Amino acid sequence: MTTDPRYPSLTFRQDYFDDPAAWAALVSLLQDTFGIDLDPLRRLGGADPTSMPFGWFDDQGTLVANLSAFAMPIVINGRVVRAGAFQSGAVRPEWRGRGLYGDVTRKALEWCAAQQFEAIVLYTDKPALYEPYGFRALPFHAYSGPAPEAPTSTAAARSLDPTVAEDLDLLRRTLRTRTPVSDVIAVRESAAMFLINTQFDRDVRLSWLANERAVIAWKSEAEDRFVLVDVVAEVIPPLSAILGGLGIEATSIEVLFSPDKLGCELLAQPLQSYTHFMIRCETPFVLDVPAMLSPMADF
Ligand SMILES: CC(C)(COP(=O)(O)OP(=O)(O)OC[C@H]1O[C@@H](n2cnc3c(N)ncnc32)[C@H](O)[C@@H]1OP(=O)(O)O)[C@@H](O)C(=O)NCCC(=O)NCCS
Repeated sequence: MTTDPRYPSLTFRQDYFDDPAAWAALVSLLQDTFGIDLDPLRRLGGADPTSMPFGWFDDQGTLVANLSAFAMPIVINGRVVRAGAFQSGAVRPEWRGRGLYGDVTRKALEWCAAQQFEAIVLYTDKPALYEPYGFRALPFHAYSGPAPEAPTSTAAARSLDPTVAEDLDLLRRTLRTRTPVSDVIAVRESAAMFLINTQFDRDVRLSWLANERAVIAWKSEAEDRFVLVDVVAEVIPPLSAILGGLGIEATSIEVLFSPDKLGCELLAQPLQSYTHFMIRCETPFVLDVPAMLSPMADF
């Protein structure tokens, strides 16, 4: 814990997730700022074990400013990049405009430098906030097209519910041994993000394909439109096997990651989203082909 003459009534703490009251203060800050509830993460195995939160607390224990960093190894253009990521960046309204966010950003950047991350990534609706620190937006593309012929599967898919112990176990085991869903851009594991995103987007369904030993995260937007959100498996099955295994008879498909391992032809179009994925790295690069990070890795 440290103090700073610029904020005499506040105390700075980092790495505070082991303190239940401080965790609750973060849950409250994110609820008040973004309307999201991070607390279910505790029942889903907890925050990413590499998490390093940086926060300013008042004397009531209220968290008034925060930014969390964590390790997020990511495959980019076929290579595993040792990346760090920023999330949970927020300052309570009455404390804004006093340099608190700049302060936690600098502290998080210093921590990332000490970890020797090759890159830092984040999502934001305010890219201007991060451009002065060398972050730049990476445009994302989703893929769509007509559905391929799907063979009839012999084994029916099983729905998974991460709040059921047995299903959570299966999910966590499969996440641990997953292969990146794409070689263009994809996370290597990021289990905590996957699990909490199942709670944030209730339209996403999870199904277990026993033959393929694959967890499929998917949505059905209209009766005949199938949206593939993510695939967690040691070997990524072809799209036709996924559709067959799920027993889906869609006419059109959307895939929210690069389908380079799916064995199908789909067309890329720019992703319409209010948030931007930003990256800070030594050497600027472009993605080999249009792509996006699965929303199940969103953080
Ligand atoms: C955005 C937010 C974190 C800024 O917090 P803050 O403590 O007021 O920021 P600071 O006073 O440390 O300002 C840091 C810098 O960011 C700039 N900045 C502040 N708000 C900004 C915004 N909305 N857009 C772009 N730049 C902004 C400031 O001008 C300042 O620039 P300077 O260093 O050149 O003076 C705060 O307004 C907030 O919590 N907003 C809601 C949640 C959110 O948007 N989170 C971050 C996005 S992921």
